[in-house]
Amino acid sequence: MGLYLRAHALTVAQAGRCSTTALIWSLVGCLLLLNLFSIVRHKGKGGEFQLLASHHPQFRELQQVEEENIQIPPPRGKRSPRAAKRRPKRTTTLIDEFLNEDSQLRHIFFPSQKSVIDPSKDAGNDSYYYYPGRIWLDTDGNPIQAHGGGILYDELSRTYYWYGEYKDGPTYLAQKNGLARVDIIGVGCYSSKDLWTWKNEGIVLAAQETNETHDLHKSNVLERPKVIYNEKTGKYVMWMHIDDANYTKASVGVAISDNPDGPFDYLGSQRPHGYESRDMTIFKDEDGVAYLIYSSEDNSELHIGPLTEDYLNVTSVMRRILVGQRREAPALFKHRGTYYMITSGCTGWAPNEALAHAAESIFGPWETVGNPCIGGNKVFQQTTFFAQSTFVLPLPGLPGSFIFMADRWNPADLRNSRYVWLPLIVAGPADQPLEFSFGFPSWSRVSIYWHRKWRISKVE
Ligand code: GAL
Repeated sequence: MGLYLRAHALTVAQAGRCSTTALIWSLVGCLLLLNLFSIVRHKGKGGEFQLLASHHPQFRELQQVEEENIQIPPPRGKRSPRAAKRRPKRTTTLIDEFLNEDSQLRHIFFPSQKSVIDPSKDAGNDSYYYYPGRIWLDTDGNPIQAHGGGILYDELSRTYYWYGEYKDGPTYLAQKNGLARVDIIGVGCYSSKDLWTWKNEGIVLAAQETNETHDLHKSNVLERPKVIYNEKTGKYVMWMHIDDANYTKASVGVAISDNPDGPFDYLGSQRPHGYESRDMTIFKDEDGVAYLIYSSEDNSELHIGPLTEDYLNVTSVMRRILVGQRREAPALFKHRGTYYMITSGCTGWAPNEALAHAAESIFGPWETVGNPCIGGNKVFQQTTFFAQSTFVLPLPGLPGSFIFMADRWNPADLRNSRYVWLPLIVAGPADQPLEFSFGFPSWSRVSIYWHRKWRISKVE
């Protein structure tokens, strides 16, 4: 009996050990399978591209970042030796220098050089480069006025149209909130065949000079205009942020035109879905459905909702995304079935850190995948290269590569704000893997590469 019992106990113990071992092995198996799945999934998204990227000379050129080593000047004015002993030197940061109109480094952030346009020269020539931060001229030799803008590729005319805030007026401080502003002048429009030479098409939606109750009265705010084309109606539809000088109206406006170069007819404004709407953008998906994305609830979250078929209104569908994250300046794009978005923090005209977000469905869940900025130096990366996102445009002919468009605002003289366009590439593993992906990142990395000058191959 005793022997039997011992034998039985042994069998039970063995069986127990056996099932524990089996359990451990199945768990290991499961994990391996999951990892494999993750790798395959990842390969499907970014792997192929990386292969492409390492073989394609243009990708390598776009990813070759430049480093910045800017020496911060010592504070001006002589200090007495006693004062120097008592108090350590007041240190300023690069951001302080950027925000200081009298900084000795002003020429670095707002260089007086102009990007010279000579369409007769080809892509191999020096004159065909983008110089982020320089003064960009149109084909008439005048500085381009298309701030907070976006680009429409018009397939009918095979032409790019760049729309933005025309801010060529005096900057002054708004009475109540003390924010730097320029009266509404209108929406500027520039056309290009090659994304480099821009012809001024004039102001396609103009301010109202006299009617003070009109949304577009010059004393109000018109920001971040974006245009999409509606195949069903054959109309070009513009959405924009409409506000009063104190940003309390927090609405979106819509305008419509038969032609990409206007004139646009203003249809009116609304608070979409009944909510505040400040920084915004629109995004037209591959299936022709367009969406409005806007900062709401005092900029604490973004809202996203589809537009009606004619793109002139929102529908009743709306989702709250990035709740509590306080993001604005959304710029949405899509790559291989995944939606991506770049946003900024909320610090007015002052630059801050950009974040990239990704989602399988446009309605979310949206995951924050990290700061996309690479190169320059730490401060450049923490300030989106001293700029703020406005739009992301797919680079023709190079899938996975985009032009990241941003504004380097100059609150001392808003008309003299600069454009920072840089290559954005979706490839490689993301920095911040999601918890449920077992240590393997689910998204590809979104990278924006700093260049003092860079070029794209001829588009035309
Ligand atoms: C920013 C916004 C700009 C403009 C600015 C005014 O947060 O992105 O479009 O509204 O504030 O200070």
